[in-house]
Amino acid sequence: MTNFLDIHTTAPDQLRAILDSANAMKGARGDRPKGTPDDDLPLAGRIVALIFEKPSTRTRVSFDVGVRQMGGTSMVLSGAEMQLGHGETIADTARVLSRYVDLIMIRTFGEDILNEMADHASVPVINGLTDNSHPCQIMADVMTFEEHRGPIRGKRVAWMGDGNNVAQSFLHAAASFGFDFTFSGPSQLDPSDALMGAARKAGCDVRVERDPAKAVSDADLIVTDTWVSMGDAESSRQRRHNLLRPYQVNERLIEAAPDDALVMHCLPAHRGEEITDAVLDGPRSVVFDEAENRLHAQKAIMRWCLDL
Ligand code: CP
Ligand code: NVA
Repeated sequence: MTNFLDIHTTAPDQLRAILDSANAMKGARGDRPKGTPDDDLPLAGRIVALIFEKPSTRTRVSFDVGVRQMGGTSMVLSGAEMQLGHGETIADTARVLSRYVDLIMIRTFGEDILNEMADHASVPVINGLTDNSHPCQIMADVMTFEEHRGPIRGKRVAWMGDGNNVAQSFLHAAASFGFDFTFSGPSQLDPSDALMGAARKAGCDVRVERDPAKAVSDADLIVTDTWVSMGDAESSRQRRHNLLRPYQVNERLIEAAPDDALVMHCLPAHRGEEITDAVLDGPRSVVFDEAENRLHAQKAIMRWCLDL
């Protein structure tokens, strides 16, 4: 059994194996109705707990559907409705759940919570997003890029806006998958120096470019995300909007990018804020392929965790 806690804590050959498996499962399924099982049912007889301490649409539904398609059973648990939200420790929750279920996925706040869950669970734990990272998202994003453009190795991803959890996972992925990364946002919201340094040490060309048009000028993929993440204080909203407005992904910015640059957003999008309708619904956007691939990537992650 293996945890899937982060991109940088999973060996690059294992990340690649997970994506190969995701592509194979996606291909084998074809376009059969979503509620019908796969030919292969690796999760038959297995139960998966999906814990959410923050809201979710994609993660919640794609994990749940993925478990069902692979023949397993899942239960969605809201942190607030569990004893976890009323004083029970993470460690005790992990020990108890490990007596009932075969796999735990948790979306939570600090990565210390995720790590405590993993330390005390005797079943694999999957990171469904923390304040620091969103590795399942980035697996789907790499899968989506490669479906459209071939190997991501040597390509350049331009991240526009907040150096948040998703941006940080992109930096981890740059090191693991061998792509270059441009961060373009206000200095107050830069990803950590340590993270950028680690990617550079792994051989990636990591640039910080405050001019958004210059940042996208050689990008193969342009990515943005919300200006206020679920872990951010509501009181920071106005300040963040003021800082991030120049980094909006709009048609004018896209004109500065190469013709074949793709656009991604993990969703949910705040249309008219970090990205405009014209770009999100435009020809460069692959956001709904990206959302679909959450399902396929996570099915492969679950199989990998359980060695099935
Ligand atoms: N992208 C993503 O994780 O979406 P949800 O918050 O809806 O799960
Ligand atoms: N950065 C966003 C991602 C949502 C999927 C957040 O953490 O709210």
